[in-house]
Amino acid sequence: MNILILGANGFIGSHLSEAILEQTDWSIYAIDLAQDKIENCLSNDRFHFFSGDMIKQKEWVTEHIKKCDVVLPLVAIATPAAYVQNPLSVFELDFEANLAVIRQCVEFKKRIIFPSTSEVYGMCTDEEFDEETSNLVTGPIHKERWIYSTSKQLLDRVIYAYGKHNALAYTLFRPFNWYGPKLDNIFNPKPGGSRVLTQFIGNILRGEDIMLVGGGAQQRCFTYIDDGIGALIKIIENKNNVAYQQIFNIGNPLENISIRVLAESLVTLIKRYPKYAEFANKTKLVDVDAAQYYGSGYQDVQLRVPAIHRAEQFLDWKPVVDMATGLDKTLDFYLA
Ligand code: UGA
Repeated sequence: MNILILGANGFIGSHLSEAILEQTDWSIYAIDLAQDKIENCLSNDRFHFFSGDMIKQKEWVTEHIKKCDVVLPLVAIATPAAYVQNPLSVFELDFEANLAVIRQCVEFKKRIIFPSTSEVYGMCTDEEFDEETSNLVTGPIHKERWIYSTSKQLLDRVIYAYGKHNALAYTLFRPFNWYGPKLDNIFNPKPGGSRVLTQFIGNILRGEDIMLVGGGAQQRCFTYIDDGIGALIKIIENKNNVAYQQIFNIGNPLENISIRVLAESLVTLIKRYPKYAEFANKTKLVDVDAAQYYGSGYQDVQLRVPAIHRAEQFLDWKPVVDMATGLDKTLDFYLA
């Protein structure tokens, strides 16, 4: 099988590339602007990497969509601060650039595995978010945070419609706060410059206070990257066509913790690394108003728990890495 990965150097793309090369005999055709996270894949005969911008390299992208069996368009802006600060960039990249790829998959009759997001459920009040029954709830237009959620939601709807009316073979997967090594750059000093876990690790290492937006009572289900990649491999494999025209939440409902507890755990865990213990000892947790931290266009999600019975039933998948193990592995990657 030939797999096309757009954005192979990203968090998901880099882990997926490694896993495919290790666990399967599939070949990968990949494009990205950078290659620092996939250094160990580059010398593999089954990894064909092109260094470039998928938006500018239209011919390369078209040629490879035609050539491959499965397409994974993983290029997107995925940090909430950017949704508020650069909403149009989110629309142009996450929506417009990906729509062009989706249309080519329809034209050339290729299977597409598309990253939807836990964010599509927005402020849904269901105890567990279900792919088939939960409402997708976002805020007013001046709350610009929702441009990511609604861009992704509209693409989900477009893909669904192409599936129904043009027989597009698709699978939508919704990652719920996947984390692990290579998540974001911990040396990015910008508040909100990375997702919360790497943001907090960076705060501690730079001797900064940890900012708990809105007090940190909001909860997330943190999902270790290896679990997420395990689901993706099963989706690509598509045994007996189980993933055909399906939507799957891929998350760990058992690791539903508050952002405050995440911060406290990281401070405790980093104290075990002699080189950084002193920083962790000095770290303070400070409550900050959401509008002050992100700007007035921000609105938060208080609770976000995935229902995963569909992934269990169709993919025979469930998460197996608990948070203690996942955090250890992540911290060892960044600190050891
Ligand atoms: C994330 C991002 O939108 C995407 O990465 C992705 O699509 C999705 O969720 C997912 O991975 O499931 P969110 O969980 O809100 O959204 O993003 P984070 O930046 O990781 O923030 C998590 C929580 O921590 C938020 O409530 C945020 O307000 C809080 N936070 C963040 C702080 O309290 N302090 C900080 O310094 C940063």
